Amino acid sequence: MSTNLIILAAGKGTRMNSDSPKVLHAVAGAPLLIHAMKAGASLEPEQTVVVAGHGADEVSAAARAYDARAEIVLQTEQNGTGHAVLCAKDALANAAGDVLVLYGDTPFISPETLAAMTDARATYDVVVLGFEAADPARYGRLVMDGNTLERIVEFKDASDEEREITFCNSGVILCSREHMFSLLAQVTNDNASGEYYLTDIIGLARTSGLTSTAVACDEAETMGVNSRVDLAAAEAAFQARARRAALESGVTLTAPETVFFAHDTYVGPDTIIEPNVVFGPEVTIENGAHIRAFSHLEGAHVSRGAVVGPYARLRPGAELSENVHVGNFVEIKNATLAEGAKANHLTYIGDATIGEGTNIGAGTITCNYDGVFKHHTQIGAHAFIGSNTMLIAPVSVGDNAMTATSAVINKDVPDGALAISRTPQDNKLGVARKLMDKLRAKKAQQKGKDE
Ligand code: UD1
Ligand code: CA
Repeated sequence: MSTNLIILAAGKGTRMNSDSPKVLHAVAGAPLLIHAMKAGASLEPEQTVVVAGHGADEVSAAARAYDARAEIVLQTEQNGTGHAVLCAKDALANAAGDVLVLYGDTPFISPETLAAMTDARATYDVVVLGFEAADPARYGRLVMDGNTLERIVEFKDASDEEREITFCNSGVILCSREHMFSLLAQVTNDNASGEYYLTDIIGLARTSGLTSTAVACDEAETMGVNSRVDLAAAEAAFQARARRAALESGVTLTAPETVFFAHDTYVGPDTIIEPNVVFGPEVTIENGAHIRAFSHLEGAHVSRGAVVGPYARLRPGAELSENVHVGNFVEIKNATLAEGAKANHLTYIGDATIGEGTNIGAGTITCNYDGVFKHHTQIGAHAFIGSNTMLIAPVSVGDNAMTATSAVINKDVPDGALAISRTPQDNKLGVARKLMDKLRAKKAQQKGKDE
C-alpha cells in the first residue's frame, strides 16, 4: 500500500531561544527536519507534505533542498497537532493509501520501527507508535486493552490513575488518508489546552467501529528536541550510535569518543580513523584508507589506501584516488589527485587536477582566486612541484615536468620541462660579517647610554 508523509514542523521552539525555527537546528550536520524526512523516506512515500509555520520560508527551502518534490503547507496559527495535520488535507486530496504523521523535531525514528508500523496496519485501522517511558512526564498516555489501543489521553487531561500509565505516545501515527481526515473533522478543542489534539482520533475511531493498536519502540528513537540541551543530547546520541555502527562494520576508531560523524558519512571496512577527526556532510571513504589525527573532512571522497593527515583539511570537491597521500597542514578543495599523488606538507590545492604519481612540494599554493573569479590549475602525471611553488591559475604543468623551488608559475610548463622562476642568487663576500659588526656596535652604544 502506498504511504504519504505529513511532517509537523510549524512550532517555533520557544525554548531554543533562537531566530531560526526549531526544526532547522542541526544534528550531525543536517537539520532535524531532514532527519525526520530521511526516516519517512524509507517508506518510499508518494507525497511528502511539510506543515510549516514559524520560519516557513526557511523550512520550505530546507525541505526542498533535501527533496525537490516535498510540498509545503502553512499553519499560520498553532492550534494543536490535529489542526496541523488538517492543514495537509487539501495537499493530499488525491492521495491514495495511508498517511504517516511524523514530527519535524523528532529525528531518530528508525526504518525498522516504521516497517513494524506498516506491518501492524495489515490488521488494524490505526497504528500509533508508543514507548515505555523511563519518566512519562507530560507525554500523552496510551490506554490499552490487550493489543487494542482504546484512546490516548493527554497529560493535562489525564486522571491520577491514567497518569500512572508509563506506555506513552510518541506522536507518530499511521492510518488511511480517508480515516485520518474524516476522524480529524470530528475533533474539537474542548480540553485543558484548548487545542485540536491529533490524539483524539483514537477514541473517535473506536466509536466509529475502527480498530487501533500501538507498536512499541525504544524510547531513544522518540527523543524530541525542545531546547539546546536536548539538541546537544540528540547529537551525543547520534554520535554514540554512529561510532558503534562504524566499529561494527569493520572500521578501526582508535578513540571513538573523539570522532564526529555527519548524518551521511560512509566509511568502508578496514579504514583506520585516528583520534579527533571531524566529518562534515557528504564524505565517503573507501576500504583500507587511513585518516590520521586532527583531520577535518567535508564533501570529500577518499579511495582505498589513501592516507590523510595528521592535521589535513579536505573541503568540498576533494577527490583522492587510490594511495594518495595528503599530509599535515594541507588543504584541498575542489581538486582531484590521481593515483599515488602526494602533497605531504603545508599546501593549498584548490580548483586543480593533479596527475598520477605527482609530488607536490612543501608550501606549494595554487593561487586560484583573482578576487572575482576562480581559475583551474592542471598538473600532469609524474610531475615534481618544488617547495614553495606558487601556481598562478589558470595554468598547467605537463607530464614529467618540474618546477624549481620557489617558482612563481604564470605560464604553462610543457611536458618534461623544468621551470625556474626566481631572482638569481648574489653572494656578497664578507658583507654579512661587516653588517653584523656594525649592528653589534650600535647595540653596545645604546646599552652604554641607558646605564
Ligand atoms: C504531543 C502529543 C502527545 C505526545 C507528545 C510526544 C498531541 C495532542 N499530543 O504532545 O500525546 O506524547 O507529542 O512528544 O498530539 N505542531 C505543529 N502545529 C501545532 C502544534 C504542534 O506543527 O499546532 C508540531 C510541533 O512543532 C511539534 C509537534 O507538532 O513538532 C508536537 O507538538 P507539541 O506541542 O510538542 O506536542 P506535545 O504537547 O508535546
Ligand atoms: Ca513536544
